[in-house]
Amino acid sequence: MRVLVTGGSGRLGRSVVTALSERGHDVTSVDLAPGPDLPGVENVVADLLDEAAREEVFAAARPEGVIHLAGIAVPFGRPDLEILDVNTRLAWAVLSAAVGCGARAATAASSPTVFGYNTPGWKPRYLPIDEAHPVAPWHSYGLSKAIIEETVRTLARTSGDCVLSAVRPGYVIAPEEWAGAPTQLGHTLAERLADPELAAGSLFNYIDARDAAELFALVVENPGRVRNGQMFNAVADDPLSTRPLNELLPRFHPGTEGLADALADGRAAFSSGAAERALGWRPRRHWRTELAPLPATSASDMDA
Ligand SMILES: NC(=O)c1ccc[n+]([C@@H]2O[C@H](COP(=O)([O-])OP(=O)(O)OC[C@H]3O[C@@H](n4cnc5c(N)ncnc54)[C@H](O)[C@@H]3O)[C@@H](O)[C@H]2O)c1
Repeated sequence: MRVLVTGGSGRLGRSVVTALSERGHDVTSVDLAPGPDLPGVENVVADLLDEAAREEVFAAARPEGVIHLAGIAVPFGRPDLEILDVNTRLAWAVLSAAVGCGARAATAASSPTVFGYNTPGWKPRYLPIDEAHPVAPWHSYGLSKAIIEETVRTLARTSGDCVLSAVRPGYVIAPEEWAGAPTQLGHTLAERLADPELAAGSLFNYIDARDAAELFALVVENPGRVRNGQMFNAVADDPLSTRPLNELLPRFHPGTEGLADALADGRAAFSSGAAERALGWRPRRHWRTELAPLPATSASDMDA
């Protein structure tokens, strides 16, 4: 099928474009920066906030599926108003263009930050956090993602045959990061595992970029199995930590005592059950199998 990917040159986008190419789709990847040169992939450099450029891209690509990843991807990475402005305008522009051009499926990248962890006294209703858990963003990035999700639900009311959805990938680990390249916030995976404080801010969530890419592909390939306006968590089912979260969460997020007992068996703080039920998707890559060998000093701590 013809699939248009926005943000296809980014950390996650490169894996999404690669997965779509390997699955035999005709891909148009649109980004401010040039994208990977792959079979079946046309790279277009364009600013999707430019209306004329956006219309030209959609008219030329005639996508049957749209995967919207473009945006500012890091909380506090840019001024608050810029994050809010860019992410929310891009989502409305791209998703409404997808509906307007007759696509059958369009999905946007949201984020687990919509759940609002890291405020003083934050406490989830329950653990693990699934798609039914209420959202409560507290910073402009999380709010931009909550607005993107509301944009999905808003457009879904009139989108006819186009099924809209959003996917909430955890902390994305690109393939080269398993081999030691720095992750999104600058530390290597080995450093994040050695110092729990580094991953505590994201509740120790992560997802391999290729696993997330597979879910984005399944969502646009199977609109008949997705409810219009549906949200999907996309998080590895184990935490990015050497110790179970019933030990770690109460240490860094006071108030989770008791609730975190549910994670004593080594589960992650989030579950991705909606994607498994709708599409048979489960994360396949985990840090214990993907990570280049850790320094010997960490070995005694690897029994969690
Ligand atoms: N990386 C993560 O851990 C993570 C976690 C959850 C959600 N997400 C979301 O997934 C998406 C992709 O994240 P990423 O890590 O690949 O980010 P990234 O910054 O690596 O990629 C985003 C891409 O969007 C492009 N872009 C930005 N504005 C654009 C515009 N106006 N027109 C065209 N292209 C534009 C950028 O050039 C960039 O290549 C984002 O929406 C992000 O918020 C990422």
